[in-house]
Amino acid sequence: MHSIEKYRSEFISYLESRTEVKEPKNLYAPVNYILNLGGKRLRPVLVLLTTELFEKDYKEALDAALAIEVFHNFSLVHDDIMDDAPKRRGKATVHEKWDVNTGILSGDAMLIMAYQLFENYEVEIFKALAKLFSKTALEVCEGQQYDVDFETRDDVTLPEYLKMIEYKTAVLVAAAMKMGAIVAEASPKCQEDIYSFGLNLGIAFQLQDDYLDVFGDPKTFGKQVGGDIIENKKTYLYIKAMQSGTEENRKQLQDLYSIQPKETDSKVSAVRNIFHETGAATATQEAIENYTQKAFFILDELDLSNEKKGILRTFGENLMRRTV
Ligand code: IPE
Ligand code: IPE
Ligand code: MG
Ligand code: MG
Ligand code: MG
Repeated sequence: MHSIEKYRSEFISYLESRTEVKEPKNLYAPVNYILNLGGKRLRPVLVLLTTELFEKDYKEALDAALAIEVFHNFSLVHDDIMDDAPKRRGKATVHEKWDVNTGILSGDAMLIMAYQLFENYEVEIFKALAKLFSKTALEVCEGQQYDVDFETRDDVTLPEYLKMIEYKTAVLVAAAMKMGAIVAEASPKCQEDIYSFGLNLGIAFQLQDDYLDVFGDPKTFGKQVGGDIIENKKTYLYIKAMQSGTEENRKQLQDLYSIQPKETDSKVSAVRNIFHETGAATATQEAIENYTQKAFFILDELDLSNEKKGILRTFGENLMRRTV
């Protein structure tokens, strides 16, 4: 096993060796722009790490890791169009820097490029990777559709929300880990268990993303703080505030979420106050903790050495504490 930093730097070197700006520039320049903007590289690191957990050299998994990072970045380019987001990783989003049409087509190209990377695997592994990937990608689309549908509803339930984030985010984290297990030719049982671990970690991860969207530090967060509030996103914070707030809180929140104001700062700070007052902020932090613990329970059952379990545990704990 290597350190997380080593997997990340090896992945970044591989990514850099595989990217070039071809013609037409307006198709490929945005692809390179988004892929080189940085980011945590969480998913590819998990692919490489999981491959080594199951005793194969991480180098065998570099193409699968790149596929998942390219897919993730494709989903971000389209997500930023759908969310009308101006900033990503501290820089202009693709559709802001170029335009919406460029974002759509460059995103489409990235989805295909992700698939192409699986062609480098021999037939059995190729089949398993492609099958998992197709299922996952479709689920991400379903999750994204629910996310958008919920913007105009005010009766979204907690189970509906949890299903939405499972699909839009957690399945990709889970698939990253399962891909590592596939490349390592781990047993079907190990593949399923590591998928469940990743799924719970992924749910905690999206809950944390929702929390940071409201309470993150604008200087370091890299995205527009308050973006979810501006877009009337039905997050855990919103649903909890509606459940545990007073009649007055509920009415205020509903009113605030029925408008798309020109001046957004006052809406964001009013909603932020309600999230604090109603205990929704604390409840969200507890939920992040709970889903991380759920992942750790699954980990306990896994047939891995204590050293390996320790690495995954530290990884999960760091994820819970992140500020970006
Ligand atoms: C952002 O993912 C989209 C979500 C699913 C929350 P990340 O937070 O992993 O984004 P980067 O790649 O590190 O920028
Ligand atoms: C993103 O959810 C999920 C996907 C990109 C599939 P968000 O819309 O919350 O992600 P951010 O906050 O823009 O990164
Ligand atoms: Mg978004
Ligand atoms: Mg979104
Ligand atoms: Mg978000």
